[in-house]
Amino acid sequence: MEHHNVSSIIIGKNNKMIKFRVRQMTINDVNTVLEIWAKNNLHEGTQTIQSFMIQDPEGFIVAEQIFDDDEDEKPKNDGETMTNNGENDQNSTPVIGMCVGIFVHPTIAFIGLYGVQPELHGHGIGIAMWKRMMDHIGSLNAGLYAVPEHLTMYRDRAGFQNPDDRMLIIYESDQDDHLNVDILVNSIPETKIHLITTEWYNKVIDYDAHVHGYIRAKLLPHVFNEEGSAAFVASNMTGEKIFGYGCIRTNNIGKAMIGPLYADNDAIAELLMHYLFGRLSTQFAKGLLYMTLDSNPGGERIAEKLALKQQEKIQRFFRGQPYDGADWDRVYCIHSPNFSLL
Ligand SMILES: CC(C)(COP(=O)(O)OP(=O)(O)OC[C@H]1O[C@@H](n2cnc3c(N)ncnc32)[C@H](O)[C@@H]1OP(=O)(O)O)[C@@H](O)C(=O)NCCC(=O)NCCS
Repeated sequence: MEHHNVSSIIIGKNNKMIKFRVRQMTINDVNTVLEIWAKNNLHEGTQTIQSFMIQDPEGFIVAEQIFDDDEDEKPKNDGETMTNNGENDQNSTPVIGMCVGIFVHPTIAFIGLYGVQPELHGHGIGIAMWKRMMDHIGSLNAGLYAVPEHLTMYRDRAGFQNPDDRMLIIYESDQDDHLNVDILVNSIPETKIHLITTEWYNKVIDYDAHVHGYIRAKLLPHVFNEEGSAAFVASNMTGEKIFGYGCIRTNNIGKAMIGPLYADNDAIAELLMHYLFGRLSTQFAKGLLYMTLDSNPGGERIAEKLALKQQEKIQRFFRGQPYDGADWDRVYCIHSPNFSLL
C-alpha cells in the first residue's frame, strides 16, 4: 500500500504493520545509519559519510519509520535511540535502512551503504530506497562492490553486468592479534613525512588526481579534517615532489581503518603506515581493517608483512564499462568500499 509517499509492510508472526517513507539522508541520521551497517556486519569510517555527503548530498537516501501519534512504540524525543555506549543519542532518527549512489567522478557514480535493519530484511524497504537512489543516477555508468550473497542480485537483476578485472581483498585484525608494525619501513633517505595541513592541500589534491584520473578538490579537505583521523604526506626534502599520502580513521565497529593509501612504491606506503599507526587517537582499539585491490601486489605484500588475516575477496561490477582511468599501481588501500571508485 502506498499513500502520500508512505509505504506499509506487515512483519512477524503478529502481523505487525510498519509504515515508512524514503527520503534524503541528513547528518542527524548518520549515527543510526552506522549502527544498522554494523548490525549487518559491514564497516565504514565514523566520519566518512559526512565527508562524501558534501560531494553529492542528493545521492544519500534513507528509509524512515513513520509512527502514528497514538503509537506506544514511538521513540521518545522524536527518534531518540541509545548509542553503543548506552547513552541517549539526541541526534539519532527512526531510520531503518539506507542506500547511497553518488557521483564521485564527473560521469560515473558509485553505489554503497545499501542496508536495512536485519529484522526488516525482505519486506521491500531495500528496493524502495534503491529505486529512489537510481532516480538520482539516471542512465549514467555506476560501480559497486558486490558481497557474495548479493552478487547475482546486482549482476542479473540490477543491471550491473560488467565485472571489473580487479578484486577487493579485505584484511582484518582483531583486538588481541599482534601486528608486525615494528618491521615496517620507518625511514627513507631524502624523504620526509608531514601531517597534511592546509599548505599541503593543493599538492596532495594534485597527487590524488594523478592516481584517480580526475580531481577530488571538493572532497579531500573534508577527508583530511575528519575527527579522530590522521593524514600524512610523503615528499622529497624540499617538499616540492610528493611520493604518496595516506589516512587512517576509526570505523563503526571501533576498528582502525586505513584509506586512502596511495604511494609510488611499497617503501613509501610502509613509511606512511608507520606514521599513521602512531597518530590514530584510539589506536587499534578493536583491530585494524585494511582493504587493498589485487591489481597492486604491493598492497598484499604489506598486509602479509603486518600479519593481517585475509577475510574475503569482493568483486566489483559496473553498469557500463569498468572504470580504467586510475593509476592502479599506486593504490595500496582504497578510500572507501561504499563511496569511492578506488
Ligand atoms: C541487500 C538489502 C539492503 C536488501 O534490502 P531488503 O529490504 O532486504 O530487500 P527487499 O525486501 O526490498 O527486496 C525485495 C526484492 O527485490 C530484490 N532486490 C533488492 N534490492 C535489489 C536491487 N538493488 N536490484 C534488484 N533487485 C533487488 C530482492 O532480491 C527481493 O527479491 P525477491 O522478492 O525475488 O526475493 C538487505 O537484504 C540487507 O541489508 N542485507 C545486508 C547488507 C548487505 O549485504 N548489503 C549489500 C552490500 S553489497
